[in-house]
Amino acid sequence: MNRIRRWMFPKTKESSANSAPQSLPEANKWDLSDYPADFNPATRSLPEANKWILSEFILDKLVPVIGVHPYPLDELLLMCSTVAYFRPDIIVEWGTHLGKSARIFYEVSMYLKLGVIIHSIDLPPDNEHAENIHEASERAIFVRGLPVALHLGDGLSVARNVLAETRPGLPLFFVDGDHTFESVNNELNCIKEIASRAVVLVHDTFLQGSESGYNCGPYESLKKFINENRLPIQSTILGLPGMSLTYWL
Ligand SMILES: C[S@@+](CC[C@H](N)C(=O)[O-])C[C@H]1O[C@@H](n2cnc3c(N)ncnc32)[C@H](O)[C@@H]1O
Repeated sequence: MNRIRRWMFPKTKESSANSAPQSLPEANKWDLSDYPADFNPATRSLPEANKWILSEFILDKLVPVIGVHPYPLDELLLMCSTVAYFRPDIIVEWGTHLGKSARIFYEVSMYLKLGVIIHSIDLPPDNEHAENIHEASERAIFVRGLPVALHLGDGLSVARNVLAETRPGLPLFFVDGDHTFESVNNELNCIKEIASRAVVLVHDTFLQGSESGYNCGPYESLKKFINENRLPIQSTILGLPGMSLTYWL
């Protein structure tokens, strides 16, 4: 019980374990070596991060920069909890677009002092994909000047090269490129081939139904993938756009 309370009301350098902080703490006030943001994986059967600490970080640090579009609060929390719990050594994501998801991963990695290496991939500016940003000055603006490796090309092909070059222990993939069933299906199956251990977040997985005209590809392909490979899945609920987590370790 004391351990749970300690996680609920973690000490800052100024406060004790028995009193909840009265105001949102500065990131650098947390002593994360004393209070890691994840629960001890050795004592848990499911991924479990400290959502109180991460919620404060999201409200205090992330939302003022990123807002809640396209990633609502529950999706921000899933992204941050995934990084906090799994502690990947590399994140490979596509597509970069404005760079919001890359910035989220960068900020949470900094906050948790994890030093995760981040690669972000998008199609070249002249590619005709409906969601591609063609104007160079508008691309990746949220990670401009930050240590995020930006690549041009097909997400999966670049990811394959990045993995071959870096040979990470545990990569996290963030799949948010083309949303057709065929693309996501191919991406998930190829990720499984190139990574013997991986954590995967897929965006736009809330299923509105085919009559809605909204993306059904990510949900349908992820469902097929986890069924075929007997993998766990955790998803946000009750609204768009939706995000899901799966992993094999
Ligand atoms: C919904 S946006 C991604 C939003 C972005 N994650 C953010 O946080 O701003 C989709 C992006 O995926 C890119 N895209 C589509 N197919 C791709 C592919 N095969 N490889 C890499 N990027 C792709 C598009 O050009 C577009 O910029």
